[in-house]
Amino acid sequence: MAWALVVSGTSDIGRAVAHRLAAAGYHLHLTARRPDTLHDDAQDLRIRYEVEVKVHALDVRDTAHHPSFAAELTPRPEVVVMMAGYLGDNDLAERDAEERARIMETNYNGPVSVIATLVPHLPAGSVIAGISSVAGERPRASLYYYGSAKRGFSGWLDGLRMRLKPKGIHVVTVKPGVVATKMTAHLPIARGPLTATPEKVAADIVNAIRKRKATLYTPWFWRWIMLVMKLMPEFVIQRMKA
Ligand SMILES: NC(=O)c1ccc[n+]([C@@H]2O[C@H](COP(=O)([O-])OP(=O)(O)OC[C@H]3O[C@@H](n4cnc5c(N)ncnc54)[C@H](OP(=O)(O)O)[C@@H]3O)[C@@H](O)[C@H]2O)c1
Repeated sequence: MAWALVVSGTSDIGRAVAHRLAAAGYHLHLTARRPDTLHDDAQDLRIRYEVEVKVHALDVRDTAHHPSFAAELTPRPEVVVMMAGYLGDNDLAERDAEERARIMETNYNGPVSVIATLVPHLPAGSVIAGISSVAGERPRASLYYYGSAKRGFSGWLDGLRMRLKPKGIHVVTVKPGVVATKMTAHLPIARGPLTATPEKVAADIVNAIRKRKATLYTPWFWRWIMLVMKLMPEFVIQRMKA
């Protein structure tokens, strides 16, 4: 049976993805900054789906560790799902270098480093799914640090997909809309009608991996919302104030 790697398996969407992958028969590598926080999840997955689960320590900002992590990861995964992300505090980022670095490194530099170091170890036929965001499509005044990092990550994933096609490795650029998770719990928008559950988004991600989709908007209607947003002139976006 094949193995899948879920980076940042403590994320609410990542937990739901792990369940979907295990239900589909994958053995799992799960990572977290503090792997002890994943031990109950790992045990639950083993019992529920009769799969093997290995837990590893991985901080996406600790780029010096990534080459040894990638080289020592056995069995080799055939599916890689990059979940790590950090919304951050946009106002704080405007005046604090550490907050700026944390947003850029957790959403761009770190995920790029982990995936780039894993690529040479992946067999042909592998699939990489990078979780970006619709926030990267048209960064807004209230969230432009996070939005710009996700925009960069989406672009990098799109380029990587073209680069790896001849090697038989597929890359999915995943763009969720608003999802009810720890990340958005404090935001009024997360209580709105367009908000999806982590389970719905996870089902779409695993389906996109299976179907080797290039870009996934999840739920589907965000493709059309973002098409309209991208066509809007800046003065209209400016009036939306968020
Ligand atoms: N929720 C939404 O509306 C939404 C929308 C679009 C895209 N997304 C993206 O979906 C992904 C999952 O987010 P979520 O909504 O499930 O939120 P979440 O539960 O807050 O998950 C965020 C994850 O990122 C991990 N993380 C943060 N800093 C890290 C670091 N330095 N190294 C490794 N992992 C780190 C966290 O790990 P710890 O447990 O160690 O903190 C956690 O597992 C993120 O990439 C997010 O940007 C979310």
